[in-house]
Amino acid sequence: MLLPKFVAFLAALGTLAGGQRSPRLTRQSQTDVLQNIVTWDQYSLIINGTRVDVFSGEIHPFRLPVPSLYLDVLQKVKSLGFSAISAYFFWGLHEPKRGAGISFEGFRDLQPFFDAAKKAGLYVIARPGPYINAEVTGGGFPGWGTHTSGLWRTSNASYVEAYTDYMTSIGKVLAKNQITNGGPIILVQVENEYSGFQAPYTEDFEYEANLKSIMRSSGVTVPLTVNDAWPGSHYTNVDIYGYDSYPNGFDCSHPDVWLSDAVPEYFWGAHLGINPQAPNAVYEFQGGAFDPWGGFGYESCAQLLGPAFERVFYKNQFAMASTVLNFYMLYGGTNWGGIAHPGVYTSYDYGSAIAEDRTLREKAYELKLQAYFRSVSPAFLTSQPTNIFATQGSFTGNQALKTTQLLDFVGNKTAFYVVRQTDASVNDDQTYSLTLPTSIGQLTIPTIGGSLALNGKDSKIHVVDYSAGSTTVLYSTGEILTWATIDSTDVILVYGNKGELHETAFKFGAAIPTANVVSGAGKIKTKLLGNGGLALQYVTSGQTVVRVGNVLLYILDRANAYDFWVLNPATAFGQSFVHSTQKNPIIVKGGYLLRSVTASAGALQLTGDFNTTQPVTFEIIAPQLFQAVSVNGAKLALAKTPQGTLTGQRAGSLPPISLPNLASLPWKTADSLPEIQPQYSDASWTVADHKTTVNPTPPNTTVVLYAGDYGFHTGSILWRHHFAASGLEKGFNVGVQGGAAFGFSVWLDQTFIGSWKGDGALSNFNGTFSFPSTLSKDSQHVLTILQDHMGNEENWWAAGEVFKTPRGILSYSFVGTDKTASGVWKVAGNLGGEDYIDTTRGALNEGGLFGERQGWHLPGFNDASWVKGSPMTGLRHAGVAFYRTTFTLDIPAGVDYPMALVFTNATATTAAFRAQLFVNGYQFGKYVNNIGPQKSFPVPQGILNYNGQNTLAVSLWALDAAGGHVDSLRLVTTARVESSMGKVANAPSPGWVPRVHVF
Ligand code: GAL
Repeated sequence: MLLPKFVAFLAALGTLAGGQRSPRLTRQSQTDVLQNIVTWDQYSLIINGTRVDVFSGEIHPFRLPVPSLYLDVLQKVKSLGFSAISAYFFWGLHEPKRGAGISFEGFRDLQPFFDAAKKAGLYVIARPGPYINAEVTGGGFPGWGTHTSGLWRTSNASYVEAYTDYMTSIGKVLAKNQITNGGPIILVQVENEYSGFQAPYTEDFEYEANLKSIMRSSGVTVPLTVNDAWPGSHYTNVDIYGYDSYPNGFDCSHPDVWLSDAVPEYFWGAHLGINPQAPNAVYEFQGGAFDPWGGFGYESCAQLLGPAFERVFYKNQFAMASTVLNFYMLYGGTNWGGIAHPGVYTSYDYGSAIAEDRTLREKAYELKLQAYFRSVSPAFLTSQPTNIFATQGSFTGNQALKTTQLLDFVGNKTAFYVVRQTDASVNDDQTYSLTLPTSIGQLTIPTIGGSLALNGKDSKIHVVDYSAGSTTVLYSTGEILTWATIDSTDVILVYGNKGELHETAFKFGAAIPTANVVSGAGKIKTKLLGNGGLALQYVTSGQTVVRVGNVLLYILDRANAYDFWVLNPATAFGQSFVHSTQKNPIIVKGGYLLRSVTASAGALQLTGDFNTTQPVTFEIIAPQLFQAVSVNGAKLALAKTPQGTLTGQRAGSLPPISLPNLASLPWKTADSLPEIQPQYSDASWTVADHKTTVNPTPPNTTVVLYAGDYGFHTGSILWRHHFAASGLEKGFNVGVQGGAAFGFSVWLDQTFIGSWKGDGALSNFNGTFSFPSTLSKDSQHVLTILQDHMGNEENWWAAGEVFKTPRGILSYSFVGTDKTASGVWKVAGNLGGEDYIDTTRGALNEGGLFGERQGWHLPGFNDASWVKGSPMTGLRHAGVAFYRTTFTLDIPAGVDYPMALVFTNATATTAAFRAQLFVNGYQFGKYVNNIGPQKSFPVPQGILNYNGQNTLAVSLWALDAAGGHVDSLRLVTTARVESSMGKVANAPSPGWVPRVHVF
């Protein structure tokens, strides 16, 4: 399936080539700023007078409804070397009922998120919408939008009226948290990918201007930005225009296949054509991929967009001078409750660097290498590329390699050379030498013989005349990891793949020191280059440390480079919000994760995480005044390394825990489809009797059978049709629409007559279901139809109304006759519809199954009268059952043991059943056995109570006449980590109380 944005993008390519641009409106300029804290020029953002590399990652607080975990994720991001995060906010969650106010209560409160960012020292790019896309239901638009007239994403009055309250309210929240008011927000994005306009509609400048003016009148003074779907010159009248890019696509089925020309080089030219006065800002660059129902699973996506992708594509963005660069997603989280649009399932792991369970993938370490390098390379912030496109053979003479040169046009000293394969699809090994201009004349590198290597899907950044403290690195083919001046020694860390030959050369004055290996097994060759130049040649393998004059050079292979952490003691600056600073760095070789360092009276206190009980060897590169070091409160027994740094060992402590065996717990069950019983009364259901609708899809039925028109926007929907038979009805034909992978089941009175079991690619289905026998004349019947609502569609096309695509019954007829007198239709969805009951867990968390309407999924519901039975026994007929059990957990403090509920049924087998998992009332899993792919459902600590009782409820909808059951359901840990993260407060989990108007 081609995503709408790619269709639009292809159509627009012609326009780009022709250089046509949309008219420009005024933007905040450098002479007319509303504030002077965040400014910019053609190179970079300047915050409080200092140029900043905005190296950012996308995180959505609403996809992690445990605010006390925000800091854990954000500290990890900070430790990886990021300076910023970016976040969408989701209108539909904040205003599920029109006119009932904008809720910032509970998990919808943004303050804890901004506070955590501030505490972690990260800037924030805030992206409130109103439209966000983001794979959320309706693309962020509230459900009530589906029954609101007007073309959305235009200046249509009805739409403007719809978003004004939300945008004003959130604008005020953002204004309060701007950097100008002491908060972390540096940029605010209006709209999202306002880029695709289906004829006859075009870019609506009035709409754009109104969004900007609402932000300004709400008090937002920091620069406004926009995220164009490609550098397509839309909505350019914001302050700092930018765009997004997903160059490896979303098909995770062939995770090793890249297109030859996948690396986007035209960005630089496009940027110069659109907004050369501002930095080349990329507000979303691919950090992973979403995965659809029936997809290949996030481990495949993590491979497609893995470390090799990061090296090649992110270094290309370096070559394009993207000094504002945000990765989407850095931490994806979970589509719990009804957050997802139909194109994705419960997990929004995204194959990101930080996995859904908050653990670090190898991708995170590759990002760290790049982030650290960028953050100690201020010359990059004033550099621009000098050659693009026809760069094959440049500087290397090897046509199979492309090399882009970036020159620092302000410092006029440093140059960067970014090398990669000309054909991105190949895995060939290349050898090369670099012929480069340097301050001591042109050099062909390696200068000591041999050749450089670029093996397979890789890319490298080689520096020339690069400043590291008082040292000038004349050139280095070993990539710079970081450097710091510590006790007046310039400590420089370089790395390469294991076994690669590299050279690093220094420019000394008249006296050229000798280079000596002080530790490690590596050997060096040296050569005097003349004019003060001294070259060192080495092979990157393990860790070797060389002293040369005032320089301590750490030569590392990639695996060793991954182990280094650069920490900045916040207290040294007497302020809690340090943002991204390179001051007073302490470089520590450690293990899985180091989070923070505090310095006091000759001692350093480190905090970090251990994912192994094997001893981890630390090396602490810090000023000599620190002679004592503790990790997570435990003192390290220290020794001195030959290079004079401190070293010590510590093993992680991973205490055993016991987890409940879910299969052997006492489970209770009850029927959750009493609606088909003769005594059931639907008297208090909503009568579906609308004759008209504002929905752009014209109804094909005598009454409107769109669930959204009756206020139901999530979960399961039930329809009931009461009719008197004419005596000829032999069956029922019905067209139902629920979104991709949806299913439905149909009963005539008490008799199951069939199901549509679903297909990952189909949003609607027309089914014919035979009655057991022809109905007799004047007999009274009721048809019950249970359907899935997979979320509302996104609305990528501006001025389109795709998100209004109905969920419900599109058509129906009886087989055998068209003379059946039209009867009454009734509908039930989540109890209360837009007046939803569970304000704590939000409007999308519960659907319309009988058990959900009763609140059976909530803790404290009294199931004493239920019979014994578990989802492992399941149902022997089509229908719906609810299951409940409780268990306690007692997980010790000081560890992070993320858990998941795991099904062992083979997905994509024929048994058609759907299950929802409710943990302490929160829906954290929607499992579709016959479609998949998700079987493991992570549930964060805080939703799971790690020290007390938990209620697990499971709804099981068997779509087959034979019924269905879960082969097994287990609670497992997905990682075991000794952790220095903060204490986790459980998300509020109000228990069952009698419900009013329940039916
Ligand atoms: C972008 C969009 C994001 C998200 C992403 C795919 O085009 O701006 O909101 O949908 O695609 O994950």
